[in-house]
Amino acid sequence: MTYILAIDQGTTSTRAILFDAEMQVAAVAQEEFAQHYPQAGWVEHDPEDFWETTLSTCRTVIKDTGISSTDIAGIGITNQRETTIVWDKNTGQAIHNAIVWQDRRTAQICETFRNDGREDMVRATTGLLLDPYFSGTKVKWILDTVEGARARAEAGELMFGTVDSFLIWRLTGGASHVTDATNAARTLMYDIRKGDWSDEICDMLGVPRAMLPEVKDCAAEFGTTLGAHLGGSIPILGVAGDQHAATLGQTCFKPGMMKSTYGTGCFALLNTGDTPVLSENRMLTTIAYQLDGTPTYALEGSIFIAGAAVQWLRDGLGIIGKASESGVLAEKADPVQDVILVPAFTGLGAPYWQPECRGGMFGLTRNSGPAEFARAALQSVAYQTRDLWEAMRADWKGDTQVTLRVDGGMSASDWAMQSLSDILGAAVDRPVMQETTALGAAWLAGMQAGVYPDQEGFAATWALDREFKPMLDAGRRDAAYDRWKRAVQAVIGV
Ligand code: G3P
Repeated sequence: MTYILAIDQGTTSTRAILFDAEMQVAAVAQEEFAQHYPQAGWVEHDPEDFWETTLSTCRTVIKDTGISSTDIAGIGITNQRETTIVWDKNTGQAIHNAIVWQDRRTAQICETFRNDGREDMVRATTGLLLDPYFSGTKVKWILDTVEGARARAEAGELMFGTVDSFLIWRLTGGASHVTDATNAARTLMYDIRKGDWSDEICDMLGVPRAMLPEVKDCAAEFGTTLGAHLGGSIPILGVAGDQHAATLGQTCFKPGMMKSTYGTGCFALLNTGDTPVLSENRMLTTIAYQLDGTPTYALEGSIFIAGAAVQWLRDGLGIIGKASESGVLAEKADPVQDVILVPAFTGLGAPYWQPECRGGMFGLTRNSGPAEFARAALQSVAYQTRDLWEAMRADWKGDTQVTLRVDGGMSASDWAMQSLSDILGAAVDRPVMQETTALGAAWLAGMQAGVYPDQEGFAATWALDREFKPMLDAGRRDAAYDRWKRAVQAVIGV
């Protein structure tokens, strides 16, 4: 039997998923790790936690299935994107904790570059905005802050990488300092049209090119694991940032196809084919995936609070015991109340990009209680998705798929997905396969190894679990969306 091992290194946990020759899940192991919040708005991870949880989850699935490393044809890696690690080339030790994508510490650096009139050049080159979300200003912060770091970087002693790059470097015993085009596209230093690091932006940030990894296709030879780590040498054959892997796992291969993944945040990608569309509505332009040296581009909308709003119901308000209860509670909400939550707990992402504003609730009455709060939290995710849906459809002039493919934890809630369809006014398709992100990474590796089908064959395996169709009339839908937009303007104005 041939297997493919997918490693999904995410923001709150690391998972290893073993797929069999039929692309079905054979085993899963998951471990959470510590989140560090050294100051308000700062979020860090210990890179050793990435490494240890990767090794132990991989070893667990191999052991549980009773296979050996020789049964694994390849490894696919997918990861939380933008999170930044700088490590010493000789010792392999990070010189600072990983600075996580959610971290806002470089807001001032971004502001300074914006005031210097650099944003247009950065947008045109990278497809991104000057926001602390991306890696570039985080690398600058580490080089500026850790004593002697810039001189060591210039001397070629330090390496930069996103999480994929760090894990590959460790797994290959320091033989490969590489990444893939999708992860590179989130660093703020990669020219997504030329397919190369941008000297102009590296100079602006004071990041020596020698620190940067070699950029490869998503399906490529990334190196081979040291025997000691996973009980034998296994080739690493696939890499993609998690949202890009989910786009692949949802087989959004045609221009106009769109997926939305509901984890802590929500990330929607619209395939724009071989055209990098520069948004007029504050969306991001990114590389959806790169195969055979050819990038396929996407428009991306990133919102920071989706599942985190449900966590707030559970951990902050204590009105549900587990996330899956949110839909049941929301269903009991009084239909005549219009409570709206704007979950700007860490500011607002696309299309507003307001790092400093904070959340608000509107329309409260004496009768507003847990059920109305639950409905408002779930609907806030739907309204934010509509913001992205509207912006992307305005930017993209080609044919647009009229359905949205969904995945991630919240997509399991029928109530939330029906509400999403009602607010979008479009069909929402949930696939049978729930592990779309891991599957995307596994498919890359399996295809490269020659054991999984090509694009067309893979797309034919996508199967629908349930389609949600809009049940709200257009007048009520638009009135509700107008209320949401007014609520957003109110929190931005506070
Ligand atoms: O851009 C950040 C994103 O890649 C994080 O995804 O699933 O780890 O929250 P996730």
